[in-house]
Amino acid sequence: MESIELNEKDTIQTSDFLPLNGTDYIELYVGNAKQSAHYYKTAFGFQSLAYAGPETGIKDRASYVLVQNKMRLMLTTPLHSDGPIAEHHRKHGDGVKVIALMVDDAYDAHTQTTKRGGISSLQPKTLNDKNGEVRMSGIKTYGEVEHYFIERKNYNGIFMPGFVEWKSTYNPEPTGLLYVDHCVGNVGWNQMNPRVKFYEEVMGFKNILSFDDKDISTEYSALMSKVMSNGNGFVKFPINEPAVGKKKSQVEEYLDFYEGEGTQHIAIATADIVSTVKQLMARGVEFLKVPSSYYDDLFDRVGKIEEDIEPLKELGILVDRDDEGYLLQLFSKPVEDRPTLFYEIIQRKGAKSFGKGNFKALFEALEREQELRGNL
Ligand code: FE2
Repeated sequence: MESIELNEKDTIQTSDFLPLNGTDYIELYVGNAKQSAHYYKTAFGFQSLAYAGPETGIKDRASYVLVQNKMRLMLTTPLHSDGPIAEHHRKHGDGVKVIALMVDDAYDAHTQTTKRGGISSLQPKTLNDKNGEVRMSGIKTYGEVEHYFIERKNYNGIFMPGFVEWKSTYNPEPTGLLYVDHCVGNVGWNQMNPRVKFYEEVMGFKNILSFDDKDISTEYSALMSKVMSNGNGFVKFPINEPAVGKKKSQVEEYLDFYEGEGTQHIAIATADIVSTVKQLMARGVEFLKVPSSYYDDLFDRVGKIEEDIEPLKELGILVDRDDEGYLLQLFSKPVEDRPTLFYEIIQRKGAKSFGKGNFKALFEALEREQELRGNL
């Protein structure tokens, strides 16, 4: 952990022109939202929350909203071959379209970000129904991904106006997923620093951690990463860029198959990673496996931890430590046939970092998968 630059003090001084209260929801554009919703319920334990589609007067799409504790996921599919949702899906396959952030004032968030150079993707608007009002706006970020600003302090309904409650007779148990810890973006060659600048200047974020290709390289492939955080640390966006290695970087493989920049993974917090991962595995979520030799010198690397090592080893859970504590984490395989979006399950025990000590073991595991796909 020696070369980590954790500039936590900087975050305190972050200008507060864009106060954020966390992630409101994440919207994925998918090929078949009805079936994706079934997968996220069955495999990840999300619960049915809200629905919009032809039955509610929406003609071009169907959207299913799922919830687990504080995390909301919206799955949207086009109903015809034309239009922006269908075009997005044809090009990228299933992927993240909107990372919506909770704000106190959606109109001011739009004013503050666009006057600093942010490009508007959604002009401020107010949605009303009998439960109150939701105000929202949005700006573009990397690739075709957008950040929406959602203000719901005067709303008491189930999700937002335009959606009806989605009642289902199929309600699998939750798996202990709590909230979005961070969302990682993969950007193209030489695009990491411009995107870092965007988060600094347009959104008032700070760069709290940096990894270069010397930190994150294996025998073959490499990448660079910078972690951007808002002032209170509720919203964190690491940005990855491919780096030159002997063979193709995993970020480059993503860019090839997503056909552009996009969200690489969503990290979801749990308070009991052993229990959560056991359930996810039993329900068919596939995870990257590190060799069992990873655990041979675990205590030498991370010191004392509260957990028994056997269940961690059995499930392939990774451990890393920084100055403030440790963290446990595990990465899923991509959740679609293109090697693009995947999920991370993370339990933080004081650590505020991102598992740099695991990168090598993890990336070697990733490369074995990449090689099986013939893309290394
Ligand atoms: Fe992560």
